[in-house]
Amino acid sequence: MPRYLTGVQSSGQPHLGNVLGAIAPAIEFSKQPDAESFFFIADFHSLTTIKDAELRRKHTRSVAAAWLACGFDAQKNVFYRQSDLPEVTELAWYLSCFTPYPMLANAHSFKEKSDRLSDVNAGLFNYPVLMAADILLYDADFVPVGKDQKQHLEITRDIASAVNHALGQEILKLPDALIREDVMTIPGTDGRKMSKSYKNTIDIFAPENELKKQVMSIVTDSTPLEQPKNPDRCNVFALFKLLATPEQIAEMRRKYEAGGYGYGHAKKELLALILDKYRSAREEYNRLMSDEAELEKLLKAGAEKARAVGTKVLQRVRKAIGF
Ligand code: TRP
Repeated sequence: MPRYLTGVQSSGQPHLGNVLGAIAPAIEFSKQPDAESFFFIADFHSLTTIKDAELRRKHTRSVAAAWLACGFDAQKNVFYRQSDLPEVTELAWYLSCFTPYPMLANAHSFKEKSDRLSDVNAGLFNYPVLMAADILLYDADFVPVGKDQKQHLEITRDIASAVNHALGQEILKLPDALIREDVMTIPGTDGRKMSKSYKNTIDIFAPENELKKQVMSIVTDSTPLEQPKNPDRCNVFALFKLLATPEQIAEMRRKYEAGGYGYGHAKKELLALILDKYRSAREEYNRLMSDEAELEKLLKAGAEKARAVGTKVLQRVRKAIGF
């Protein structure tokens, strides 16, 4: 049975863009009957940028709760937190001793981050090695990721080949990247791509009053209420279209074009639709966030499943290297 593996950094409460662009498609994918999906929260990786312990824990829980609330099946699949398996850092050390320095120095995500961030630590530099360990520790066959992670997957394969070559045996399994080209770009409240760094997110797991404020702040033009409006040039409509049924979309389009329908009305309908569509996900998210013991139990159970695979691979590597 092929094994799919992917991870996300715990960088805060997932927003509508994360849910529609990444979480929902990954969950759909993980439902395939003849495949096993490993999914983990890369909280070791998040230490490269987040140094506040409480904040990192909160983000990690929030990401876990959001994935589960959106329907990720932790029974069928393997759902865990990276740091529950510190074995991965041991493998990362072994891998780093087979990784040519220039390969990391030339990685574009490192170059980009070292230009942008004030804290340029060695963890950022070693990031791809830890990521390779995440993948190689579990003999993953396929790694579904966004385009931005393509080079990291190439590095993973290069490191695995270097190890296999140096040891003269097929110790590590070479994974294939599954690059998603069709990732939807979700517009934020200001019309740019929805992103935490632009502060233009719609936080579908936030309390209702906050969510309402965000929806009401969506930028529109100043066409007066009475006048007909072009739905195809409106952010509110663009977001509505992503969530609504074809009938609901046609109905809203008609109202825009007829006039006498203001952006405030459209925003109210969008808010109602979000609340309706994500009602049970929001409830489940809040339940998991308020029941820390339950979330921990789920994550620990996932870690045990992951460990059953990881320890075997690690043992194989230790033996081959001479430890
Ligand atoms: N670097 C990935 C990202 O930022 C997260 C990640 C860490 C990952 N380890 C991984 C993804 C292993 C896939 C496989 O999105």
